[in-house]
Amino acid sequence: MTAIKPIFEKIDLDFNFKEYTFHSGINELDDFFYEYSSKFIQYGYSQIYILRNDETPDVMGFFSLSSSTIQWEESLGIEKITRYVPGILLGMFAIDERFQRKKFGSDLIKKVINIALKFSKEVGCRCVFVDSLIISETINFYLNMGFKFVDIPLGKMVIKKLVNNEKIERKTIKMYFDLYKIQK
Ligand SMILES: CC(C)(COP(=O)(O)OP(=O)(O)OC[C@H]1O[C@@H](n2cnc3c(N)ncnc32)[C@H](O)[C@@H]1OP(=O)(O)O)[C@@H](O)C(=O)NCCC(=O)NCCS
Repeated sequence: MTAIKPIFEKIDLDFNFKEYTFHSGINELDDFFYEYSSKFIQYGYSQIYILRNDETPDVMGFFSLSSSTIQWEESLGIEKITRYVPGILLGMFAIDERFQRKKFGSDLIKKVINIALKFSKEVGCRCVFVDSLIISETINFYLNMGFKFVDIPLGKMVIKKLVNNEKIERKTIKMYFDLYKIQK
């Protein structure tokens, strides 16, 4: 078996989605990729980046990026300048099931942070934001990558409920990565 040589690229409206296979196991994310990505690119709502296999028609992972702000909170540990903190939203993000747990996700998060750092030299951008799905593996993944909960008490409550297998009403929780951690 030959080693995979992943190609990382930003896609445009010419990208032929039908030629590629992608299945993350989360319908909402797969549907976004196939049904909505083009519209988001066309109307300037997001840019979409993929990791694909150079030899087979497989998309190994993808993410979408948009500009965004969140309301400043004491617990963010970020200096308060105005009511809103500027950043980049990692809107959609998934790795194909066949390629999960092989560090492709970690590599893509590093790409996201690099893009955000470059962007921050041109436009004010302090953080990368994500609305993480409330799934233990996903939250652990973001925590491992250096993301924090925007609302720490809520984060603690969600983790406690996940550990105790209790029902959680919400589907996502907001997390952020502070780019100043790297810049300083
Ligand atoms: C979450 C996701 C993006 C992680 O990408 P990945 O390539 O599978 O993760 P990595 O191999 O880079 O894992 C890095 C670390 O995250 C944690 N992690 C990732 N997947 C995990 C799992 N299924 N179970 C437990 N820990 C996990 C581990 O700490 C792992 O390090 P380790 O393998 O050395 O223990 C991917 O599994 C995925 O697409 N899941 C479904 C969709 C999703 O949740 N998307 C995020 C939407 S907000």
